[in-house]
Amino acid sequence: MVQEFDKVGVVGLGTMGAGIAEVFARAGFNVVGVEIDQAALDRGKGHLDKSLSKAVSKGKIDEEERAAIDGRLTFTSSRNELADADFVVEAVPESIAIKRDVFGDLDRICSPGTILATNTSSLSVTEIAALTGRPDKVVGLHFFNPAPVMKLAEVITTVSTSGDTVDVVTEVAKRIGKTPITVGDRAGFVANALLVPYINDAIKLYERKVASREQIDTAVQKAAGLPMGPLTLADMVGLDVCLAVMDVLWDEYKDPRYVASPLLRRMVAADHFGRKSGQGFYAGR
Ligand code: CAA
Repeated sequence: MVQEFDKVGVVGLGTMGAGIAEVFARAGFNVVGVEIDQAALDRGKGHLDKSLSKAVSKGKIDEEERAAIDGRLTFTSSRNELADADFVVEAVPESIAIKRDVFGDLDRICSPGTILATNTSSLSVTEIAALTGRPDKVVGLHFFNPAPVMKLAEVITTVSTSGDTVDVVTEVAKRIGKTPITVGDRAGFVANALLVPYINDAIKLYERKVASREQIDTAVQKAAGLPMGPLTLADMVGLDVCLAVMDVLWDEYKDPRYVASPLLRRMVAADHFGRKSGQGFYAGR
């Protein structure tokens, strides 16, 4: 069934959406990237261009492969162009109002058999599926930043997801070179339920002045052999994303260990989102 897949839509070309579009195009799929207007499309193309240039400079792909990948990528500001898409991944901002708008359109525009996936990291996939008339064909397909590099893909199922949909999406995840794990629709799924409270704890240590940001990052890197420390990772993931995940964990479990650090909340209120806004624990300093 997956072999018949050809055209994949990616709605939203921010950091994650652009990375997801790249992953599919590199795996041989024809990808249509959708954004709301020309300025957003240009920003999305910029993310792709930067990442593909890095892949070339790192020797992951050569110039010929890069040209083939570019040839498989098209861009549009019209969701109607997804009418014949075989599979669509949504990666728009984490607002249920925006998701409602996107999934309402996708449900109307795409053929009834098309599977719709969301890359949400903090909203309920069940709630998103219920925005459509095809909840059996809606799943979470959760990528990790940077999407072209990180190997995990969480396939999030709901009480409405059909077994066929899970099988197809799991196979798609393998086709694009990811290691899929199947996860139930609970706050944080698996990876973020573990990772984001750890980042939040690091922020708490920092705001209590237990150690400097560099010392906290060095401690974890050297102790656990991780590629980057938690405050660097927070800047990369986005402080807004970290806060959103903490808040859904708190809403779901009301467990004190899921209370967001006051500093994290204030930084987000001040639009200090990390790398993407230029201000964070390190960014901009
Ligand atoms: N395409 C293909 N490969 C690429 C690439 C690209 N665009 N960019 C980099 N790479 C490859 C490099 O070639 C290199 O591969 P090798 O090890 O085989 O040589 C590897 O990726 C590492 O790249 P770099 O050497 O450029 O960079 P680095 O060593 O500084 O690593 C990093 C950068 C991959 C980001 C690394 O620091 C890392 O893994 N950090 C942790 C990231 C992480 O934890 N992400 C999950 C966040 S949680 C999340 O995203 C979910 C959520 O919902 C909040």
